[in-house]
Amino acid sequence: MSALSVHLPTNRPALILAPMQDVTDLPFMGVIHRRGDPDFYFTEYFRVHRDSRPERHILRSIDENPTGRPIIAQMIGVDIPSLVRTATKLQRHPIVAIDLNLGCPAPIVCSKNAGGGLLRNPQQIDEILGALRSAIGCGFTVKTRVGFDSPEEFPRLLEVFARHDFDALTVHGRTVREMYRTAVHLSRIRDAVDTIAHPVFANGNVLSVRLAKQTIAETGAAGLMIGRGAIRNPWIFRQLREESEGRPVFIPTLRDVREYIEDLFQAVRRPDGTELGHVAKMKKYLNFIGQGIGGDEAFLREVRRVATEREFWECCDRHLLRDDPMPAEPPRRALLDARSERMDQELAAGSRG
Ligand SMILES: Cc1cc2nc3c(=O)[nH]c(=O)nc-3n(C[C@H](O)[C@H](O)[C@H](O)COP(=O)(O)O)c2cc1C
Repeated sequence: MSALSVHLPTNRPALILAPMQDVTDLPFMGVIHRRGDPDFYFTEYFRVHRDSRPERHILRSIDENPTGRPIIAQMIGVDIPSLVRTATKLQRHPIVAIDLNLGCPAPIVCSKNAGGGLLRNPQQIDEILGALRSAIGCGFTVKTRVGFDSPEEFPRLLEVFARHDFDALTVHGRTVREMYRTAVHLSRIRDAVDTIAHPVFANGNVLSVRLAKQTIAETGAAGLMIGRGAIRNPWIFRQLREESEGRPVFIPTLRDVREYIEDLFQAVRRPDGTELGHVAKMKKYLNFIGQGIGGDEAFLREVRRVATEREFWECCDRHLLRDDPMPAEPPRRALLDARSERMDQELAAGSRG
């Protein structure tokens, strides 16, 4: 039995918090933990190259993991000796698996043929997976997209994945070119489930219990990895557990959302930070949390304009001190409109996965 499989639930799909750079750090893990854990956490990615050492702040999220749940350390890189060296170091920390990032679409990453850039070179992926499998004694997982330019590339990638003995494959059902906005190619995730012997986790736009059920029904995946949906709705893992156990599903109110924002506000505050910097950081989370709150996105529009902590809380109080239920899903356009295009660009500029 693999290091990972002992942690996989047997009666429902596994739930995984997606790795998100500058988001899934130690404070954020605590905030999620207080609202209902996933089965697995992921670190942000460790950047791996000839001179790299595992980033200390990411190691802290492993060493001080407050959740009691297993954590998987993600690496991004292309140089085999450096990846092997880093994997050896990471295994001295309490992780259940090491994950290889084959999905980051940031131009700066892809231009070095790392992350999603590697999908243009299946032969190189083959070599990296072989070398890493020999070097990794704990679980070994891979997170991929369905191609670089086109989902037509996926069967060739699956041939490579099927040759290797790793413990789980996460498929973000978009190509690298498609970034974060387009519809998810659920049928390609289904192809992975049908081809790969190990558990496949489906990823992309799982934003609600309804969409989670749809994703499982259409892909047959053994698990769901959830990213932006968990920033917006940190109760999503709890809700999915309750749903699968046939218990009443918790419906957060706007007051609960305000409490979540307050928890996040305290958790991510840096002692040496400025008020302006802190408010700016909160606005990044609010871009997700605010979706669908207030008619015509009034909350989001207003909170984007605040500059001080006082204005920030006045805006939150105006919109969130009430017992109405939080909308179960963001409006469809929130993920597909021009503002999201700007978000794609921001995500890429920040060299995120
Ligand atoms: C802010 C942000 C940071 C991300 N950082 C990473 C990362 O470090 N590693 C990675 O594999 N994917 C990263 N991703 C991609 C997510 O893990 C996930 O694949 C993607 O957001 C699609 O899932 P979702 O629709 O549930 O958000 C990031 C995404 C976002 C929004």
